[in-house]
Amino acid sequence: MLIPHIALKILSEPATARLKFKKEYYNPQTALGDEIILTSIERSSTVAVAAETPALRAEAKEIAARLELPFVAAPSPDLTFLLTLTPTRLELRQTGSGAAGPVYVDFTGGAASHRRRYGGGKNQPIARAVGLKGGAAPSVLDATAGLGRDAFVLASLGCTVRMIERSPIVATLLQDGLRRARQDPGIGAMVNERMTLITGNAVEHMRQLTHEQRPDVVYLDPMYPPRDKSALVKKEMRALQKLLGHDPDIAELLDTALHCARKRIVVKRPRHAPPIEGRAPSMAIESENTRFDVYLIF
Ligand SMILES: C[S@@+](CC[C@H](N)C(=O)[O-])C[C@H]1O[C@@H](n2cnc3c(N)ncnc32)[C@H](O)[C@@H]1O
Repeated sequence: MLIPHIALKILSEPATARLKFKKEYYNPQTALGDEIILTSIERSSTVAVAAETPALRAEAKEIAARLELPFVAAPSPDLTFLLTLTPTRLELRQTGSGAAGPVYVDFTGGAASHRRRYGGGKNQPIARAVGLKGGAAPSVLDATAGLGRDAFVLASLGCTVRMIERSPIVATLLQDGLRRARQDPGIGAMVNERMTLITGNAVEHMRQLTHEQRPDVVYLDPMYPPRDKSALVKKEMRALQKLLGHDPDIAELLDTALHCARKRIVVKRPRHAPPIEGRAPSMAIESENTRFDVYLIF
């Protein structure tokens, strides 16, 4: 079943609605006929957990129970995604013909490792946007952690990064990547020291911080609706968009961040997209496809 991404009119008793929303997004006070904004949708009825080998079944069942998802022994045509435990890692696999490759978090090899070595260090746009220069290594709250790639770049360059991810499925993939990274002889110590993950809503998290706990920088990279079919969206992002929809509550996130960051808020945007809520940033740093809008706190 396809669910519209932005708004859905509740026309029947929510309790009997056939859609299964994650508890945290579902408001039991919603009245008949109310229009509700779904901030993020995990179509849990179309995601299940599986194990690649029989020996991994018990562990996969534990993951399924934690995420309140079904465990399946074999793929079924009703499923859009299979969160699959393999001997080496946890993967989100799309099902059906034409499905893209698996999505997983790997900080130890591939693109993350290449970017850490050759990505341009403190001169790369994301580093300049958060204010990394000289010996400065700001503390960063990454309020839209996703697969943790931006957080890893910032941590590799010296920042301490607290990541918040509200999708329990995405957070589980990220936790799996972090666990493996912590065991790696090359990056383990750095990841252990500088990267932490909290599963939850960043708006609520930021509101609860004491003055001393506030970060120097809040970093936001919301999911946005693709502008057109030719938009350059990497396979991981396409899969995440299919799983989560986009993030229509970004204005609230930005508002809260403006009261939370000590020094600046950085918002990652597609290069030609308007700033969030039309709110002009203090400065913008552009790269080929991306723009970082920087809001300085005075
Ligand atoms: C575009 S992805 C971020 C990608 C990430 N920068 C990376 O490098 O992998 C956006 C993520 O932010 C999460 N998100 C959106 N709003 C959030 C909120 N209010 N609190 C926590 N996570 C949020 C979404 O669930 C999604 O996983």
